[in-house]
Amino acid sequence: MPSTAPKSTTKFVTIFDDTYNQPDCRSYYRMLRALGYSNHTHAVPVFRAVLAELCRVRQLTEPQVFDFASSYGIVSALMKHQVSADAFLDRYAEKRFDAISADETRTLDRDWLAQLSRNSIKGRFSGLDVAAHAVAFAEGTGLFEQGFAEDIQENDPSSDLTACLAQTDLIVECGSVAHLMPRALDRLLRAATRKPWLVTSPVRGNERAEAFDVMRDHGLVVDTLGLPPFPHRRFESTDEQARAIAIARAAGHETDGYETTGSFFAQIYIARPEAEATPVTDWPINPVDVSQGQRS
Ligand SMILES: C[S@@+](CC[C@H](N)C(=O)[O-])C[C@H]1O[C@@H](n2cnc3c(N)ncnc32)[C@H](O)[C@@H]1O
Repeated sequence: MPSTAPKSTTKFVTIFDDTYNQPDCRSYYRMLRALGYSNHTHAVPVFRAVLAELCRVRQLTEPQVFDFASSYGIVSALMKHQVSADAFLDRYAEKRFDAISADETRTLDRDWLAQLSRNSIKGRFSGLDVAAHAVAFAEGTGLFEQGFAEDIQENDPSSDLTACLAQTDLIVECGSVAHLMPRALDRLLRAATRKPWLVTSPVRGNERAEAFDVMRDHGLVVDTLGLPPFPHRRFESTDEQARAIAIARAAGHETDGYETTGSFFAQIYIARPEAEATPVTDWPINPVDVSQGQRS
């Protein structure tokens, strides 16, 4: 990880948050597709490899996964089911989604997900986001056993959330929230008494020294598994690109051949207890093989 990870919480990725809290997922997933968003393509197969290794190390058959800053549950959907990120987003671009209601969208999704093949590890998934509509939608489609609309950056977790976190084996976060909100990360890990593994895929430049400090303070060692950075999404403008290059460089990243090619780049970080930091060569699914977006 870059040793010069900044301490500030400045946001530099343009935020499209008008799509974050709609009654259903269509505008968010259509926005991701239009922007050429590819973080899930690269990160989620690695998240699945991490889950497989966690199950091997701890002899778990029904791990409990917590999807932090889950939005409408795309990470959980891709971890649970045999569907690629591209195929998942393409589905919402179909014309039949144009003129239906939010309730009809939820019903279509629930039926579709129920008949999709599951991945071999039958984890149980719960999620949290500040966007109450997004969490309710994910719960309504059956993706989450429990959904929480809470802001643990500002407040302590509720008793129900605390109980759910106490049963959690793996925390996943795709985006940057775990790094940008170290207070939330600390509350998450404080309540997660099973010492879960944590895997994140922040945009380069959004990593925060405070977030790595929080992980270490909770007894976790953090590494990248030797995985290379991967494209997160295309830049919207030359201004956005210039900002991203400056911030990634200031954080200690080499940007030539990465951000200079026209996309934000992201990086996988895994945090786990040192005694469980097994080499990837022992893993049932090698994360290096799946990180370029192939199906695991
Ligand atoms: C870039 S989106 C990523 C969503 C999802 N993880 C994905 O991979 O598509 C960032 C998410 O963080 C959520 N968020 C912002 N502040 C948050 C907070 N304090 N706690 C939890 N989620 C938050 C937003 O509502 C939004 O859903």
